[in-house]
Amino acid sequence: MEQNESQLIKEFLPNHVAIIMDGNGRWAKKQGLARVLGHEKGAQSVTETVETAGKLGIQYLTLYAFSTENWSRPKQEIDTLMNLLISSLKKELKTLQKNSIKLVAIGCIEQLPKKAFRQLNEVIEKTKGNEKFTLTLALSYGAREELVRAMKAIALKVKNNIISIEDIDQSTINKHLYTLNLPDVDLLIRTSGELRISNFMLWQSAYAEFYFTDVLWPDFRKEHLVEALLDYQKRERRFGKISEQLI
Ligand code: IPE
Ligand code: IPE
Ligand code: MG
Repeated sequence: MEQNESQLIKEFLPNHVAIIMDGNGRWAKKQGLARVLGHEKGAQSVTETVETAGKLGIQYLTLYAFSTENWSRPKQEIDTLMNLLISSLKKELKTLQKNSIKLVAIGCIEQLPKKAFRQLNEVIEKTKGNEKFTLTLALSYGAREELVRAMKAIALKVKNNIISIEDIDQSTINKHLYTLNLPDVDLLIRTSGELRISNFMLWQSAYAEFYFTDVLWPDFRKEHLVEALLDYQKRERRFGKISEQLI
């Protein structure tokens, strides 16, 4: 075990880590390569990060892979990303099974090309009984779209007298989000130096700790995740209280 990793306190690991995997394009540009190669290299970081998170004992890892806004990218890049998704899903199924990882997806996944949608559902179906660790892919995901969808569903239930307005509380909202079966985000990491959320998990990150790193996603390795976790463990999460109340 490396020095840094041995400093991690197992009892204080975040339960749910979410990552905005950013910087594939800039990574490629820096090497004089096409953006697609940045995405391919980024897929390797995904594999390594999933493996590390599992080994360290993190229960929930959520990866922002494609946003609702990313549909505005050039068609060729979208095609590349979708093909990469299909090939990664095919390639990783064995590893998911071997390590008892359950794959789930959040987002408007019906919008994915048919082939990607089918492949994704196949892996979700095949891994649904796995219990060690939950890997969530945010695909065609946007927090605003998610909230609009939830509000429409709740409004319909009110209209049909299934629930009354007085009964609506935070748990009602939670239950109508894509993330209904996931806990709140504890640690939100964004790579590539951008200091923004880009429409990711707005509701679920209400009390998340944020960690920004300049490392570009294709360069993101085990030590960077450990670094983020160590930083997280130095924080005091007060949830509105004062320090003295926390002991
Ligand atoms: C993240 O890398 C991958 C996706 C958003 C799909 P980018 O493709 O955004 O890379 P940059 O930000 O242009 O460097
Ligand atoms: C956010 O990255 C989306 C994903 C990582 C999938 P973007 O690169 O799309 O974000 P912006 O547009 O720079 O904010
Ligand atoms: Mg980007």
